[in-house]
Amino acid sequence: MRILIVGSGGREHALAWVLRKAGSLYIAPGNAGTAGLGTNVPIAAENINGVVEFAYRERIDLTVVGPEIPLAFGLVDVLKARGKAVFGPSAAAAEIESSKAFAKAFMQRHNIPTAEWRVFESDQISEARAYSAGYRGQCVVKASGLAAGKGAIVCDSQAESDEALKSIMVDGQFGNAGRQVIVEERMEGEEVSLFALTDGEDYVMLAAAQDHKQIYENDQGPNTGGMGAYAPAPVATAALMETARRRIIEPVLEGMASEGRLYTGCLYAGLMMTEFGPKVVEFNCRFGDPEAQVVLPLIEADCAEVLLRSASGGLGNLRVPPASRAAACIVLASEGYPGAYQKGRAINGLRQAEDHPGVVVLHAGTDEVHGRTVTSGGRVLGVTAIRPTLEQAFEMAYTAAECIDYRGCYYRRDIGHRVRQL
Ligand code: AMP
Ligand code: GLY
Repeated sequence: MRILIVGSGGREHALAWVLRKAGSLYIAPGNAGTAGLGTNVPIAAENINGVVEFAYRERIDLTVVGPEIPLAFGLVDVLKARGKAVFGPSAAAAEIESSKAFAKAFMQRHNIPTAEWRVFESDQISEARAYSAGYRGQCVVKASGLAAGKGAIVCDSQAESDEALKSIMVDGQFGNAGRQVIVEERMEGEEVSLFALTDGEDYVMLAAAQDHKQIYENDQGPNTGGMGAYAPAPVATAALMETARRRIIEPVLEGMASEGRLYTGCLYAGLMMTEFGPKVVEFNCRFGDPEAQVVLPLIEADCAEVLLRSASGGLGNLRVPPASRAAACIVLASEGYPGAYQKGRAINGLRQAEDHPGVVVLHAGTDEVHGRTVTSGGRVLGVTAIRPTLEQAFEMAYTAAECIDYRGCYYRRDIGHRVRQL
């Protein structure tokens, strides 16, 4: 099989890694890690025409789309219209992530539990202020559109929510993504990420994961794309998974189908376990990153077959057993991230790290310059360990991470603090 993976982060390296035995891999544009598993193609993930033309010219059998932007731009629609098998939702279905205003109204229509909310247009700042005052400023202010995971501002006081509203509605911090703003009730509880793979009709649940969004230990500091993850998350008990299937996953798939937006690919439900049960924080139309780095390696079935059937139908006939092992991923970042950081720093110790049993180093922001692997992004590597238990996975991932060295290497030492003895 000839497979094209679209994207260039840790998630796409994880996809390439689980598909490495499935045939010939092409990654557009990929990174220094994916280059070791297939052919990197210099086409940006957002270049829809470029990707489509490549898939056609190279007779690609399956295209797997990693990030949200090409999904929101309709890459899946164009490829499907040309008869190509492609893993991911259509642009209309991807609106569940690309428009939070759509997602909230959709959840309301289908009685899916989520935080109370209201949506405001850009000229309604005083109405938005008045609404947030109802929560005494303890609310979350969100840009409705895509903002690279940084569009939600969690506020503690009226001063903070006023500032958040001003930054989005007056200063245009998120550009067009902030043309509509959601103000919502601030929920309390532990978060968990669920992943359903679906062909639009049948679906399979992958292991539940937990991400660590803040840059500093003890969950302090600004949000990042994610500093580490693990799966299966013990907080996702069998009872929780059953509730989530019935109250969230199935109503989404049925609701999307009934509204003419058949959902295929990966549905990512970010949940908060509140005292009133699980509620949706957000939906994403793709695998999480770094969560993909822990949930994909735990799939105990032929991944190419699972993704192909999600793309083309027939998932119901496939048995995907529950994960029997555990995985932990530690993200190694560049000092300064999520703010400004340096690039081009030589990375040492990759091979030594991978000499540890069950360890794979997944590249996120790396590049190959004169035969050397160098840093090229904020999140640089995801050191992932797959072991029989979570405790062993963390121990191995941290031991392996210590082998890696580059100037300005930063990582959190407390990934998994809710399930580890620290
Ligand atoms: P989002 O961009 O919607 O995924 O939000 C990013 C992060 O902000 C989430 O992972 C939560 O940690 C936090 N967050 C978002 N919405 C809420 C909410 N209603 N209550 C509490 N925290 C939230
Ligand atoms: N790790 C969070 C996300 O991928 O959205």
